Amino acid sequence: MAIRFDASTGTFTIHTANSTYQMKVDEQGVLLHTYFGALADDSDFSYLIVPEDHGFCGQPAEYKGERVYSLDFCPLEYPVCGTGDYRITALKAGPEGRTPALDLRYFSHRIREGKYALPGLPALFAKAGCGAQTLEIVLKDLYEEIYVTLYYGVFDGENVIARSAVVENRGKAPATLRRVMSMGLDFPDGDMDLICFHGKHVGERQYERSALRHGITQISSTRGTSSHQMNPYVIFCGKHTTEETGSCCALSLLYSGSFQIQAEVDQFERLRVVCGLHEDEFSWTLQPGESFAAPEAVLAWSENGFEELSLSLQRTYHDHLIRSVWKDRKRPALVNNWEATYFDFSGERLLDIARRAAEIGVDMLVLDDGWFGKRDSDHSGLGDWFVNEAKLGCSMRELSRRIGELGLRFGIWMEPEMVSEDSDLYRQHPDWALTVPGRDPNRCRSQLVLDLSNREVIAYMKRSLDALLACADISYIKWDMNRSVDNVCSAANPQLSQGAVRHRYVLGLYEVMEYLHDKYPELLLEGCSGGGGRFDAGMLYYAPQIWCSDNTDAIERLRIHYGTSFGYPMSAVAAHVSACPNHQNGRVTPFWTRGICAMQGSFGYELDLSRLTPEETAEAGRQLAVYHQYYELFLHGSYYRLSSPFENHDFTAWSYVAPDRACASLSIVYTDLHGNARPRRVRWRGLERDARYRLKCVLGTAADAGTYTGAALMQGGMAVPKPECDYDSCMMIAERVGL
Ligand code: DGJ
Repeated sequence: MAIRFDASTGTFTIHTANSTYQMKVDEQGVLLHTYFGALADDSDFSYLIVPEDHGFCGQPAEYKGERVYSLDFCPLEYPVCGTGDYRITALKAGPEGRTPALDLRYFSHRIREGKYALPGLPALFAKAGCGAQTLEIVLKDLYEEIYVTLYYGVFDGENVIARSAVVENRGKAPATLRRVMSMGLDFPDGDMDLICFHGKHVGERQYERSALRHGITQISSTRGTSSHQMNPYVIFCGKHTTEETGSCCALSLLYSGSFQIQAEVDQFERLRVVCGLHEDEFSWTLQPGESFAAPEAVLAWSENGFEELSLSLQRTYHDHLIRSVWKDRKRPALVNNWEATYFDFSGERLLDIARRAAEIGVDMLVLDDGWFGKRDSDHSGLGDWFVNEAKLGCSMRELSRRIGELGLRFGIWMEPEMVSEDSDLYRQHPDWALTVPGRDPNRCRSQLVLDLSNREVIAYMKRSLDALLACADISYIKWDMNRSVDNVCSAANPQLSQGAVRHRYVLGLYEVMEYLHDKYPELLLEGCSGGGGRFDAGMLYYAPQIWCSDNTDAIERLRIHYGTSFGYPMSAVAAHVSACPNHQNGRVTPFWTRGICAMQGSFGYELDLSRLTPEETAEAGRQLAVYHQYYELFLHGSYYRLSSPFENHDFTAWSYVAPDRACASLSIVYTDLHGNARPRRVRWRGLERDARYRLKCVLGTAADAGTYTGAALMQGGMAVPKPECDYDSCMMIAERVGL
């Protein structure tokens, strides 16, 4: 890792463990982007920018009469609207009431030890004992006292570059920001594929790879959340890049609200990428002396395919993003009562589940929706965070005490950002809900969104959380959010643009989550938004795990987990065994397959354990024994995608390899059956070549499979055991037995 400035060439060169990134201040003070790719050296790569008159590419004022230099042609580090660059830009801003135009030129720079922070926003940090460096480059408009500081952060031994931009108004009059992207990136070659992770409720992060075309491709959300529909994480890659070969670049945004990633292939087949807050309806007034920070974006590069890319990002997010004390602790195997009871429960029913849970080795019971206010359906009660003791038959303290006596911890569900119109909170504070004056608001799940740009609402949320956490022994909160943000107008701040309210909403959310993080460090916070509607890197700064999807079907989860694994650590994926026929799609799968699939993350159950058959109870006990024995492997192991559920329609396989490579798991789930089926094999990854590994089947229907060298298992592979029923599966463990 190193950041270097070469005054003789004006180049800033950043080296990560496996990549190099370079910018150059040219003669006019324009910050050019000169290189991003495989590890190179400090050479000045600007020789690759060949001046030429390209026609209809205008010149800055200094170049009157000369036509070979154009900001519409040069690769730029942070392109700005108003300079004759017709490609997508990172910044559209200017003095209030005037045409948005800035012409940013180099002003100063600073290289310092440590990683920069972004107050109020999630940002990577240097973990203890790990060196980090920050580069700050300050650009200034040629005409106005408007400054932009570009931030770059790198860490010893890591492959990522963190970036952000802060706009500052040092002038005497207000400025207006209409678009502030976290970063821009110009690639010399646009002949690339884009991989995005699209989806829907109950079907998040579906992998999709397509060729980039001329023009602008947009990956975005305007829902006020990062969304089920598009994830703020994409990959740009070569046409032939695979899991293990080829170049690829990951771009991940640490933000949980509306976002925008744009990729433009220009007239010369080059690619420009910008990424940051969604610009729709966005307008932000910057008073003299104020500044605006764009959320952090993270870049990673790999020359060795997606596997290396994902492993880099997963490791970085584990080490430098997730802060919770739980990140390295065994996550409790929990049982959540949602799909077991929905709203129809009593304290006694919960205790029945808890008793069986304790017998088979579950660590925690989570009480989901319906314990508060008047909440027996999803039409009422949100906002009234006081315990419905009549429904529980006792106080929350008493319930948690009795659950504790069984040896279980106790967790609880909340949806703090929402309000039902049928609630005391709404009756007292109708103006706390986002609504457009004079218009009947759009409802979703019969609820409205609280206005988190209003400080009174933020204070109420903090008070509600304090009161709840004081009323019982609560170890965990599942923080849910069950609609997209709409009717965006703040009664407290009616002058704000919709985009500004959306951003202030996210800042308010982060403020409350930061409050929880600081005040209750031992609390395990699980993120959720109707499943994985807010599964993003920003959320991981506050919550070490996120309910991955409301789809609990093991087979559909294969695709969801596969997509999620490209950009996020698998320890962040909350996954549960649920009942069959599955409540979302009616599919029936073997109980062991549901357990194997749910062991791709933070494991638990989402069914009524007290109503399992004796066989199912025994199988759940086996699953829990495996989870308890191998949790370190699932928490700290490297995760390998061994086949793609989008391409291989017969089976999906994945594995975990322990950091010391002494132990590994490999799971296979069959997704189709054939008579006289073709023999298949699957190659392990990440093992020690010369070590010998003994294979044993710990879950599912395969037999133990002998002892082999790591080289044999990785190059020759393992024969895929023959399935015995629909959606059969197995989990194999490889234990190193000596050289
Ligand atoms: C949506 C969540 O994703 C579910 O797991 C459950 O908590 C419900 N909300 C409760 O309303």
